[in-house]
Amino acid sequence: MSHEIRVAGSDIAFPCDPGETILDAAERAGYAVPYSCRKGVCATCEGTLARGAVDVRGVALRGPADHVRFCVAKPDGDIEIAPSSIERDALPARKTFDAVVNRIDRPAADVAILHLRLPIGRRVIFRAGQYARLLLPDGASRNYSMANPPQNNSAVELHVRKVPGGVFSDRTVAGLTEGATLTVELPYGRVALDESDCPIVMLATGTGFAPLKAMLEDLARRRLARPVHLFWGGSARTDLYHADLVERWSERWPWFRFTPLLSHPQDGWSGEIGFVQEAALAAYPDLSGFQVFACGNPRMVEDARAAMLARGNLPASAYHADAFVPSGDPAAAEMDEGT
Ligand SMILES: Cc1cc2nc3c(=O)[nH]c(=O)nc-3n(C[C@H](O)[C@H](O)[C@H](O)COP(=O)(O)OP(=O)(O)OC[C@H]3O[C@@H](n4cnc5c(N)ncnc54)[C@H](O)[C@@H]3O)c2cc1C
Ligand code: FES
Repeated sequence: MSHEIRVAGSDIAFPCDPGETILDAAERAGYAVPYSCRKGVCATCEGTLARGAVDVRGVALRGPADHVRFCVAKPDGDIEIAPSSIERDALPARKTFDAVVNRIDRPAADVAILHLRLPIGRRVIFRAGQYARLLLPDGASRNYSMANPPQNNSAVELHVRKVPGGVFSDRTVAGLTEGATLTVELPYGRVALDESDCPIVMLATGTGFAPLKAMLEDLARRRLARPVHLFWGGSARTDLYHADLVERWSERWPWFRFTPLLSHPQDGWSGEIGFVQEAALAAYPDLSGFQVFACGNPRMVEDARAAMLARGNLPASAYHADAFVPSGDPAAAEMDEGT
């Protein structure tokens, strides 16, 4: 028997199947609530359980309780919640495809770019900035942001940074050959361009560049000359594995600026030194009319949010981020729960 989830202070209510998470039930009912990792790690989906009880990975929790992660909380009876925001949304339908590895580029020793081709005649609808879920044979999944613009809708481009010993990014990718099949489910994610025309600051570390690449190529294809400044940082030059391409964009697109940064530069680096959020704040001390998109290292995403809201006058609603937290290790997720 399904349970009812009511949203406090509103007339919103929707059903939740047994074993379903609050986030999944809300989406199934056509409501968008904030989320990023969907693994209980990043805290983006946190809200209040006003009334009732939920199960969070085998642990019973009774309301009222704050900081409940709706992506891993399963109602145990009727409940009332207060999410940080909830709105009706025409979410693109999610689809699952068996995609063929068309090409693998290796622009750096620890980065593989997977070009996947969807079955003939199949198209995918997504927004630039969203991510795909790779479904692994053992039932686990890993999240990777789409790096291709949505106009290129018969392909999926993923930038995978090697985590030493990682099941997918290291062991699977090392043995991956062209012609292999990967199962992908998409689209996921709330990081996406809207239709406003305010200026944008983008912050990336490492493969956090992938979703921002999709957004930039989307803006260029739609000839939307929104001012955008990308700050892309890494510790070594190889972390900026597509810097040449981005330099060319900055020469070609008058609305686009690029600042590459290294935190630990080696010999011969003549660019900026430091962290992306500090460089962006130095260039734009007042971000009140901006939107900020930040993707990549979880520490950067967290520090940038704190700094830009506190020191840059950025409204919280204008900060959009995907922290690339481990998306396949429930033990790590549990460790971080409630922190
Ligand atoms: C919304 C979202 C989008 C993402 N997009 C991308 C993307 O575009 N490109 C990309 O390269 N990655 C991305 N990630 C991270 C990616 O989903 C995987 O978590 C990562 O590739 C590791 O997977 P794995 O199977 O190789 O390692 P696993 O087998 O899952 O992990 C092996 C070990 O390494 C640890 N670990 C895993 N990831 C990290 C890490 N980042 N840093 C330190 N230790 C780690 C784990 O805790 C575990 O102990 C994204 C994550 C999220 C949540
Ligand atoms: S979306 Fe729930 S913790 Fe990340």
